[in-house]
Formats: sequence, structure tokens, C-alpha cells
Amino acid sequence: MNILVVGGAGYIGSHVTREFLDRGHRVTVFDNLSSGLRENLFSGAAFIHGDILRYEQLVAALGSGGGMDGLVYLAAFKAVGESMVQPEKYSINNIIGTVHLLNAAAAAGLKYIIFSSSAAVYGEPAYLPIDEKHPTNPENYYGFTKLEIEKFLSWYDRLKGIRFASLRYFNAAGYDIKGRIRGLEQNPANLIPVIMENACGIRKELQIFGGDYDTPDGTCIRDYVHVSDLAAAHALALDYIGRTGKSVTVNLGSETGSSVLEVLETARRITGKPIPSRPAGRRPGDPARLTASAALARELLGWKAEYSDLETLIKTSWNAYRSSN
Ligand code: UFG
Repeated sequence: MNILVVGGAGYIGSHVTREFLDRGHRVTVFDNLSSGLRENLFSGAAFIHGDILRYEQLVAALGSGGGMDGLVYLAAFKAVGESMVQPEKYSINNIIGTVHLLNAAAAAGLKYIIFSSSAAVYGEPAYLPIDEKHPTNPENYYGFTKLEIEKFLSWYDRLKGIRFASLRYFNAAGYDIKGRIRGLEQNPANLIPVIMENACGIRKELQIFGGDYDTPDGTCIRDYVHVSDLAAAHALALDYIGRTGKSVTVNLGSETGSSVLEVLETARRITGKPIPSRPAGRRPGDPARLTASAALARELLGWKAEYSDLETLIKTSWNAYRSSN
């Protein structure tokens, strides 16, 4: 198929692009390179330097290479903390960008969209593990934008016949198993890349946000899922909506919880680096525990988290950081 990967030069986008190329699709990456990196572009994929806020650029991209069959939509701002102080930025890029993207998709007669959603749509968990029936009540503006995009997708499905898959990622981490992704995320705020920057000496110490949660070691528990597993889910989701003609919304997580200290200890062991840390106060808005039920993705898409054990997550991350620093 002819696939447009919008945001394909970013961290998850580059893994998704690699996956579609590996499966023999023709891929065009559309990215404004605001956080995406040129070194993440593969020779096998075409590249359009474009912005989702420029409607005419999207229209041109959707018509390129004989027209697109499907689109993967990953271009979004995603810093939870920033979204609470600069909501305007998130409104413009994530919401207005979506409106342009959907209008361009409708004008082009596009059939399929795979959307990169987030567990942030759920907010504070009412029960665990979180399944797709869990109420959606985002606690931050970023999560709100992801939920609104899901609603736009539902309406364009009803009114324009564009079938979609909304993939609600839990904590994305790790790097390509075969070490083919060269670009590292710049100024990361997420736990595993921050630990990696500490291991490389780019940062001096890890702050542990909160040690008094109601968890066995007092630190927060998260469901870390390997980015290569996420990438595979995009391809399986496209197969599913193509095969059934039905849209779908699924969680993607490993269904395993790891605490901040467990992640840190595993990283110390694998990297052989001391990775100094110090206790810091709780970060506002952090729930004590978040774990996914991914039963629906297994059942409908035939998806399985293959690389999402802590060992593989840290080893593949260290592989990427060690070879770049
Ligand atoms: N943490 C630290 N120190 C750090 C960074 C993180 O202790 O320097 C802790 C956090 O407090 C949290 C855990 O590590 O307890 C994971 O934090 P991340 O920032 O890596 O991830 P979050 O769980 O906050 O959020 C991530 C994505 C969201 C997504 C969510 C879904 O950033 O977009 O996972 O589960 F919605």
C-alpha cells in the first residue's frame, strides 16, 4: 500500500516507518522537523518537509506517488507538563492540525487513518488494569487533545467514511531491536531516556519524583511498552480496518507494571553505570499506578507485546544511547 506517515521523522514515527518499509509498503514521511530528525529518514522512504497547519501541503502530500491508501497520524506535541502551561500551542498544533488533516483526507478520498493516541485520555484510574471501557477523563491538556482527536475521527468515519484505528499507547520506550534508528529524542522528559542521558553523563543525576506512593517500593508504577511493539501494532491495525471495514480503538501496553526504582536498578545493571539519583517531590498529576489491559488488541489485531520486558526495553535503549554518545 501507499502510506503517508505524518510525523514519521520522530521517535515513534521513525519506528513505524521502518516497520511499514519492512513489510513491503511504499512509505512517504511528512514531517515539519520541529522535533523529528533528518537522521531518522530512511533512504527507502520518500520525504516531504511539510506542516499539518498548511492544508495545501497535506492535500499535495495525499495526492503524491499516485495517491495514498492510508495515513499514520503521529504529528503532535506531547509534553504533558508543557501542555498545562501553554495550552494554546497544543490547541493549534494538535487540534487545528487535526482539522486540516481530516479535511485534506476527506478531500483526497482517503480510506484509512491510524492515529497515535494515548493512555492520557483516561486520567486518574478508577480501576486496574485499564481497559477500553474505562471512563475517559483526561487530567492534562495533552490528554484532552488526544481524546478530542479521537472524537473528530469518529465523526469523519460516520460522515466521510474514513475508517480509523486509535491506538492508546501506555509508556512508549526502547529503540529498534536491530539498532537501525539513529536519531535520539532531544530534551526528553520521560523516565527511560532521562535515565539513559544520566548513564551517558549528559545529566548528573536522576530525580525520583515521589517515594511515598502506595506501591511496594513507594515509587510510581507504569506499563512500559516497546516502540517496536507499538510500530507492529500500526501495521496490524491497518490490516484490521482494511479487512473488516471497521474502525477500532485499542490499548497498547505490556500489561506489566514496573516501578521507577525497578527501572533504575535494571538500567544500572545493564549499563554498568552508577546513575546517581536523588529523591524529589511528587510530580503533579502522576497517578501511583497505571497498567493496561491489551486483551482487545490481542483479540482483534492479533497483536502481542514481544519486546516489552524491562530487560529488552533498557538494552535496546542503551544500545542506541551508547552508540550515539
Ligand atoms: N519520573 C521520575 N523522574 C524523571 C522522569 C520521570 O521519577 O526524571 C517518573 C514519573 O514521575 C513517573 C514515571 O517516572 O512516575 C514515568 O514518567 P514518564 O514521564 O516517563 O511517563 P508518564 O507516565 O508521566 O507519561 C507517559 C507519557 C504520556 C502518556 C503516559 C501514558 O509521557 O504521554 O505515559 O501512560 F500519556
